[in-house]
Amino acid sequence: MTDTLAATGITRSFRGVKALSGVDLAVTRGAVLGLIGPNGAGKSTLVNIISGYDRPDTGTVTMDGTDVTRTDARTKARSGLARTFQHGHTYHGLSVRENIEVAALGTGRRRAEARRRAEELMERLGIADRANQMAATLPHGTERRLGVARALAVEPRYLLLDEPAAGLNEGEIGEFGEVVRSIAAAGTGVLLIDHNIRLIMAVCDLIHVVVQGKSFLEGTPAEVQGSEALAEAYLGRSGRVHDAA
Ligand SMILES: Nc1ncnc2c1ncn2[C@@H]1O[C@H](COP(=O)(O)OP(=O)(O)OP(=O)(O)O)[C@@H](O)[C@H]1O
Ligand SMILES: [Mg+2]
Repeated sequence: MTDTLAATGITRSFRGVKALSGVDLAVTRGAVLGLIGPNGAGKSTLVNIISGYDRPDTGTVTMDGTDVTRTDARTKARSGLARTFQHGHTYHGLSVRENIEVAALGTGRRRAEARRRAEELMERLGIADRANQMAATLPHGTERRLGVARALAVEPRYLLLDEPAAGLNEGEIGEFGEVVRSIAAAGTGVLLIDHNIRLIMAVCDLIHVVVQGKSFLEGTPAEVQGSEALAEAYLGRSGRVHDAA
């Protein structure tokens, strides 16, 4: 299918331990798909597989109808798939501005253009006041936002965000949610992993739940929030999902 990044029948084991044992999901351009599930459910493993940092044991990944299951991360990035990492992955010896410029230069932009793009993205992510600060010395939440700015520097068609709001305060999370909506409104397909249920509910068009490596449920925020079965599986007790926030 065009305008879709899809993972179908994905399985992956690490030394005999099943991290993923049957995940099917699709990210559509212009929409935000939330990916939630307990710690260790396999969310980051799935992002690694979709983005080409890892390969599944079985299953396929397609991007706009093309099979990219075995395509390496660099090639996928060049063809419009960007991601952030749950832990770091910025250049610690470079400033915030330089980190974004380097990402923009990597897609063949000229220096002046890369600099303009960096300025624009720092404004958008609310990190312009840190422009000259070395990435190594950034607070956690700011480093996550820098990761998002770096991913956006390549103007991706699909963007995978692995807990990008960790370390942000409530006000910052609200602003970040609006940034995510604006990214989708501009036509990018976004996969958003986060444990902040309020953010997920506010921002996502659809929410996909994985439990113990399997696709468990997918629905709108209203459907997911009202699911008793989900509350049972996700929280291990009865109660509604918004209780988790
Ligand atoms: N490289 C690896 N080697 C061995 N085991 C791994 C590896 N990567 C992931 N795992 C295991 O796979 C399972 C899924 O991990 P994963 O990091 O994908 O979970 P997650 O849903 O992202 O969790 P969290 O919400 O804590 O980030 C865990 O049991 C983890 O220990
Ligand atoms: Mg993870």
